[in-house]
Amino acid sequence: MPDVLPYPPDLAAIGTSGAPFRVALPVAELPPGAMRRVTFGELDIALVHAERGIVATDDRCPHMSAPLSIGSLDGCVVSCPLHNGRFDLASGDPVQMPTTGGLWPDGRYEPVWSPPGKEPKDDPPGPKAEARRLTRVRRLRYYPVRVVDGTIEVAVPVSG
Ligand code: FES
Repeated sequence: MPDVLPYPPDLAAIGTSGAPFRVALPVAELPPGAMRRVTFGELDIALVHAERGIVATDDRCPHMSAPLSIGSLDGCVVSCPLHNGRFDLASGDPVQMPTTGGLWPDGRYEPVWSPPGKEPKDDPPGPKAEARRLTRVRRLRYYPVRVVDGTIEVAVPVSG
């Protein structure tokens, strides 16, 4: 039976305390290294079989909500397919800021990223630049997971 990856208790998703566990996926459909989206009502969850175990987090990047489940996984770090933000699934912390720049969880500002050797990207002032500058990349939020009789179950606060 695969391990479940522990996560910081203060990063439990809102409403998960005491929420019922619901059937998500046969464990055979989430081999090591795999990521899958499971949906309950309007809630999309990314189930990830990371190097150190299975974990469930929102299938919405904490930057601008892109689906993490179609990104890439390296050990315990998931990369977002939209702006290459990278997140540590064990700690919930962003480990690489999105290419758009913005705010780290603690409010530090990171400018727009440009590849080494290239001119900095043009970032004309205006509402879009301001929105990028003020977008805070949050830490990941988690849903409790368990494996019962070969099935992955997730505690979710919604019906459907
Ligand atoms: S939406 Fe994921 S890094 Fe921007």
